[in-house]
Amino acid sequence: MPIIDGKKISIQLFSEIRHEVEILKTRDNLNPGLAVVIIGDDPASQIYVNAKVKRAKELGINSFKYELPETASQDEVLNLVRELNVRNDVNGILVQSPPPPGIDEQLINETIDPSKDVDCFNPYNVGKLTIGDETGFLPCTPAGILVLLKRYDIPTEGKHAVVLGRSNIVGKPMALLLSSKRVNSTVTICHSRTVGLDKISAEADIIVAAIGKPNFVSADMVKNNVVIIDVGINRVSAPESKKGYKLIGDADFENVCEKASFITPVPGGVGPMTIAMLMYNSVKSCCIQNDVELPKSLI
Ligand code: GUN
Repeated sequence: MPIIDGKKISIQLFSEIRHEVEILKTRDNLNPGLAVVIIGDDPASQIYVNAKVKRAKELGINSFKYELPETASQDEVLNLVRELNVRNDVNGILVQSPPPPGIDEQLINETIDPSKDVDCFNPYNVGKLTIGDETGFLPCTPAGILVLLKRYDIPTEGKHAVVLGRSNIVGKPMALLLSSKRVNSTVTICHSRTVGLDKISAEADIIVAAIGKPNFVSADMVKNNVVIIDVGINRVSAPESKKGYKLIGDADFENVCEKASFITPVPGGVGPMTIAMLMYNSVKSCCIQNDVELPKSLI
């Protein structure tokens, strides 16, 4: 049961991206810039945002962090995004999801300039993704998963991929990418109202689990040699750990790993890849806006 080491692959990508940033600085006198906006003080979101800002700095990408209070109005958020849209030193804009209640996330996504939409949340870029136009951005978590499949030489063509979850951030774009002409899998999307999910999952060659339910995918729901990509990050109580909790995925790792040909662990699987692809998109964005050669595609 080989484990897919997302941490290791992300470290390779960081070094490749650092190299691209260096080229932009020396060859083109350009410095990619990423603006990260967080609204409110959700502790998990704070951790994610800080990790993004820190990683950008390490790679030589300028990062600009904007912290808006929980009480920020819709207009304040939209005005900040509009300001960032027109700044030359900001190539990528990310507004951490989910925003607090009362803030319309869709309106934020529609306001982000599509050429700076490094999350691929703007409907214009989602449309490009849908029609297979690769001049836009690829969404970070699904694209990171494709990089993992590629770097582990896992065949996808003609395989039955079952995506568990239909979120706009992971499930839907993942299904689009897996069914694209680049990947050529046959895709089934399952969700909370799917009937007979365990029978569908048992037919899968590849399962992408993104439903946010700890240990949801059990050994009896999968066939031998399945590839399990676990996107879940679930906090469960663990009195034995110092923090009092631990993070586990959507798959029952201990038991499923006996049957899987490949599996991503949580943590250390998909998570680090999301940040790596965000950094890649920020560099790509800088190249597009300045009309210079793009970094080579990672997938
Ligand atoms: N919240 C959880 N994942 C993400 C992500 O990839 N981007 C943003 N902006 N928010 C998130």
